Amino acid sequence: MENTDVLRAPLVVGPIELPHRLAVSPMCTYAAAEGFATDFHLVHLGRLALGGAALTMVEATAVEPQGRISHHDLGIWSDDHVPGLRRIADFLSTHGSIPGIQLGHAGRRASVREPWRAGAPLDDTDAAAGYAPWTVEGPSALPAGPGWPTPDALDESGIRRSIARWVEAAERAVSAGFRIVELHGAHGYLLHEFLSPVANARTDAYGGDAERRMRYPLEVVAAVREAVGTNAALAYRLSAVDGVAGGLTVEETAVFARRLQDAGVDLIDVSSGGVSTDRSIETRVRRGFAFHADFSRRIRESVDVPVATVGLVVEPEQARLLVASGDADLILLGRTVLDDPNWPHHAMRRLGDASFESWDVRFGSALGPHAALIERLGAAGETPLSRFRPQADAHRPG
Ligand SMILES: Cc1cc2nc3c(=O)[nH]c(=O)nc-3n(C[C@H](O)[C@H](O)[C@H](O)COP(=O)(O)O)c2cc1C
Repeated sequence: MENTDVLRAPLVVGPIELPHRLAVSPMCTYAAAEGFATDFHLVHLGRLALGGAALTMVEATAVEPQGRISHHDLGIWSDDHVPGLRRIADFLSTHGSIPGIQLGHAGRRASVREPWRAGAPLDDTDAAAGYAPWTVEGPSALPAGPGWPTPDALDESGIRRSIARWVEAAERAVSAGFRIVELHGAHGYLLHEFLSPVANARTDAYGGDAERRMRYPLEVVAAVREAVGTNAALAYRLSAVDGVAGGLTVEETAVFARRLQDAGVDLIDVSSGGVSTDRSIETRVRRGFAFHADFSRRIRESVDVPVATVGLVVEPEQARLLVASGDADLILLGRTVLDDPNWPHHAMRRLGDASFESWDVRFGSALGPHAALIERLGAAGETPLSRFRPQADAHRPG
């Protein structure tokens, strides 16, 4: 068996077939204004697709303005957002990467600054600069942490309104050409807030026991499943654990994952945490290599649909073993592809695939002979530094 066979095996996700197992995880870029996609998004996502990802997932894209994390999030709350997103989906498709998009609503964690400005809640200083904070919404009037805004608790009509927004967003995503629509149900955002006892203190039909806390996300999934139709796949990113005292455990989440599958989800994407803004807590998930692999393995035992893992996958052999050992069906790559957009291509080469057939022909046709030439020179004892050896002493500072 070739080393690349495990990763090269296609993966069926609902009606979609991914050509292999290395994909791009959704990552906010904070590069949008009023939700509109820009050339930055096209170039950034385009080079990730050209880097060989089987699936390129567009960052969390807000289903309504108050569901944005920051003023600079992508949005899909209006038909006007569709052409810019379609341009991206078209490019990804044309260059061999399945286009996916993550739909999100940040709930009580909305209205913040970019991460490089500490991701703190917006305040009067931001308002003076034209970026005013807005009223955030959540399941209950419980802030995400000290110094965070207290959300307006959604009432029954607010819940109906928000479900309608998810549905419209999903319809737009499909009309823009996205083949996988992912719901962002992790990281302490709205869907996760309803599920977690840490953020949900409701006493009505949407809070209390696990069944009631599942109700909002399951209603959203059922409605969005309908909107996505049968030609596109529906994925759901969940936080396997809250990582805080009294929070969700992986056993509870495994039950929820099964319910997601029953409601029509085609892919479960396993992440963790986010429900508390306290980064010092000892119960939070330790960031080791492949830090969600134990969770994706556990979730995978309770569902029949494919399961993705994400988090510090940095070595090709590590990715291969994660799939081969049954930890996950799909590897999502975040910072690894920010560091090297060609990582999926490089990984396949490192695992022994010497051809450049999966590269865009414009590059592959040049890189095949380039690699062969380098190999021939190496066989003849020549290295890139050979010419400098005799002159090593000739360097004159200044
Ligand atoms: C800059 C950046 C932006 C991110 N934005 C999102 C996002 O929009 N949606 C999401 O679910 N996760 C987001 N994440 C989390 C990543 O998708 C991924 O799960 C996490 O970075 C762990 O994978 P990694 O170790 O490969 O980076 C983001 C991460 C980074 C680094």
